[in-house]
Amino acid sequence: MRKVRVGIIGSGGIAQACHMPGYQELADVEIHAVADINPETARRAAEQFSVPHVFSDYRDLVAMREVEAVSVCTPNAFHKGPTIAALRAGKHVLVEKPMALNATEARAMIAAAKRAGKLLMVGLNNRFSAATQALKRAADAGALGEVYFAEAVATRRRGIPGWGVFTEKEKSGGGALVDIGVHILDLTLHLMGYPKPTSVSGMVAAKFGPRKDLPRVEGGWHWDPKRFDVDDFGVGFIRFQNGASLVLKTSWAGNIGDPGFNCTLWGTDGGCRFDPLGIFRQEYGSLVDITPVDLPQVRSHSVEVERFVEAIRKGLPSPVPPEEALVTQQILDAIHRSSQTGKEVKLT
Ligand SMILES: NC(=O)c1ccc[n+]([C@@H]2O[C@H](COP(=O)([O-])OP(=O)(O)OC[C@H]3O[C@@H](n4cnc5c(N)ncnc54)[C@H](O)[C@@H]3O)[C@@H](O)[C@H]2O)c1
Repeated sequence: MRKVRVGIIGSGGIAQACHMPGYQELADVEIHAVADINPETARRAAEQFSVPHVFSDYRDLVAMREVEAVSVCTPNAFHKGPTIAALRAGKHVLVEKPMALNATEARAMIAAAKRAGKLLMVGLNNRFSAATQALKRAADAGALGEVYFAEAVATRRRGIPGWGVFTEKEKSGGGALVDIGVHILDLTLHLMGYPKPTSVSGMVAAKFGPRKDLPRVEGGWHWDPKRFDVDDFGVGFIRFQNGASLVLKTSWAGNIGDPGFNCTLWGTDGGCRFDPLGIFRQEYGSLVDITPVDLPQVRSHSVEVERFVEAIRKGLPSPVPPEEALVTQQILDAIHRSSQTGKEVKLT
């Protein structure tokens, strides 16, 4: 098999936990270079994964002719720059979620990919879990009929990230909504077949992040309230051109007894739920619950990287099309705008 040489831009948490191990597991794939503005982070990642070339400026990595593809694993505000630079240099790009700070940036990234004729994939790894794949097969086979409503929930009781720049608006673009809301929104829209959104109403708020009075939770994440200017709660109501609607709920913190990562789809022929996994139909005159069993034990992040490399090798379309990530970005932007104005936002 032809060797694929990849580069890593931003070698912090997700790069070291998921992208680098994912590439390393694959035959005939070499992590050829790593770049991080923090030279110590780059050096340590390179050492751990035996990477021959180490840079503190991603432009040096992008200039390497032998690097065919890159993972962009920088904070959200630094997705667009390295992605466009890499595409212009003729590399394929897997960029972490959320795709960008806003839809304008996302459009520029898509345009760069089109101009370069290279793959642009967005790291929405939950699409590749065995549970998602099982539900997607059922939805695509028509088991749900017309999906007219969905609920998407990504909630934590105390789960504000304490590392990196997640809580700084300038570098992250937002809090819980863009960090974990994006995952469940994408997963739900993916199962629904990505209908076109027409209007969005929503609210975001910060009810826990800026507070200094909260007791520390044993084993929990610790953040700095002084470096917190994003949302820790977000809710949205979205209407679609096909008549469907969706409710999105997300939190990094909340006084709730049932935090989780889940979605439910309501269809005329069947419904489904992500966790616990189930499909709900009427068959042979009875209401039946279908529970897929013995699903493969896969790590969605590893499958994501594997599918990226497969698409490069076989010239396949992007396994997570950036045009779909742009739609989620438009919805997230619109929830922020609706929260500011107190009005519904129309999407064209
Ligand atoms: N898909 C997932 O499950 C998942 C999980 C966590 C994070 N993420 C995403 O991954 C991205 C990074 O998150 P993280 O948790 O790894 O953060 P992190 O802070 O641990 O790592 C980011 C790294 O990028 C480096 N960096 C910052 N600006 C840079 C630049 N201009 N050029 C090169 N390097 C730069 C930082 O020094 C740091 O080492 C974010 O977009 C986040 O949303 C995705």
